[in-house]
Amino acid sequence: MSNKVLSHKPVRKAVFPVAGLGTRFLPATKAVPKEMLTVVDKPVIQYVVEEARAAGIEHFVFVTGRNKGVIEDHFDQQVELEQTLRERGKQKALDILAEALPGPGQTSFTRQQAPLGLGHAVWCARNIIGNEPFALLLPDMIMQDERGCMSRMVDVYNETGGNVISTEEVAPEETHKYGIVEKGAPIAGGFKVNGMVEKPAQGTAPSNLIISGRYILQPEIFDILENQQSGAGGEIQLTDGMLELAKIQDFFGFTFQGRTFDCGSKEGFIKANVAYAMWDKKMAKALRPELEQLLASIKPRTA
Ligand code: UTP
Repeated sequence: MSNKVLSHKPVRKAVFPVAGLGTRFLPATKAVPKEMLTVVDKPVIQYVVEEARAAGIEHFVFVTGRNKGVIEDHFDQQVELEQTLRERGKQKALDILAEALPGPGQTSFTRQQAPLGLGHAVWCARNIIGNEPFALLLPDMIMQDERGCMSRMVDVYNETGGNVISTEEVAPEETHKYGIVEKGAPIAGGFKVNGMVEKPAQGTAPSNLIISGRYILQPEIFDILENQQSGAGGEIQLTDGMLELAKIQDFFGFTFQGRTFDCGSKEGFIKANVAYAMWDKKMAKALRPELEQLLASIKPRTA
């Protein structure tokens, strides 16, 4: 992060909307929130919180729903377990637990009583965020990168102010499935967003850059979301809110060059497990030849 004095408010708080139903992962997510499914040795949500922390975020706001209490427990002390580990001299295990623990008073949990959409979940955080810009990280998207996608976005924001969204390239024939940005002039390692369109008809997308799960937003988004009618699927959509906000404020894009895994889908989740296992030198050495052998020999089951 640069030391220069900012002409706009810094990003200190992050929102993690974790109130979705996770239907694509049933039955695994019947009793376990999808954010608590494990990629190698950590729950998905921990990767995302670590990314926010690396970006200098000081306060972590979780918008939870029913059956999500275990997320709160994960970011709390586990006194009995720690006591037992101490008695047994398991310092390494204690260090692992300490690493994952946010500081006292650094977390807030609020409830979205009904899953009325991502835009509604973000709006539920309005009183905790107050009148300042905030980071929004979709917790089922893991971004694998040495520095962290949000750190890179904060760099852009510190130069540009306004709103910043992460984008990624997809094949042109895939654009109709996503929110797409229209790319303007380059600025501060990012670019000016000239327009956004949600799920454009095939062949009409202004670019192949999708909006990919990380945002820095100004608090004016809350008033817009409050007055917004529900959109696609009867849910309050964040993209609709951002389109309104873009009429009165600037949006900037940042193109993430690392790997993104959509852990809300089975394929993305499995790829994330492989990618993080292969990122670990020791594990990669042992696993890579075995995985290669497995992939070469296994065939889909016929029954
Ligand atoms: P998704 O649509 O991917 O999540 O929302 P979902 O509804 O949990 O999953 P499926 O489609 O049923 O499998 C993207 C993010 O927004 C959150 C989700 O928790 C997820 O992290 N979300 C979505 C909410 O917090 N509240 C909502 O009402 C909807």
